[in-house]
Amino acid sequence: MIVIESAALEDGGKGIRFPLPALGEFATGFVVRFNQLPYAYVNQCAHVSVELDWNEGDFFTAQGDYLICATHGAHYRPDNGFCVLGPCKGKSLKSIEVIEQNQKIMINIASISK
Ligand code: FES
Repeated sequence: MIVIESAALEDGGKGIRFPLPALGEFATGFVVRFNQLPYAYVNQCAHVSVELDWNEGDFFTAQGDYLICATHGAHYRPDNGFCVLGPCKGKSLKSIEVIEQNQKIMINIASISK
C-alpha cells in the first residue's frame, strides 16, 4: 500500500509517481486528482510500453481535461483511463485501486500483477 497526503495532489495538477515492483524493476504507477477525486494507473501507454509523463509528474494536457502520452499524444479520460484519441483509441490504461480517507490517499499496489 502506498500512502500519500491528500494535500499533495492538486486537482488537474501534477501527478505523483510511485514504483510498481510487481511489474518490473523500473515500472511505475501514478496518481492524479481530477474533479476532486484521486485516480491511479500503471504508467504505461496502451499503445507502446512507454511511460506517459513528458516531464516527471506531468500527465495532463494543457487544458487539464485529459491525460496525455508524451510519445505519440494518446489522450485518456482521467476518470477511467479510456483512450479517446490517438493510436490506442478504444483501449485503456490499467487502473489501480485507490481510496481517500482522513486526508490520506491509499493506493493498493497489491491489486496490480503482471
Ligand atoms: S506510445 Fe503512447 S501514444 Fe504511442
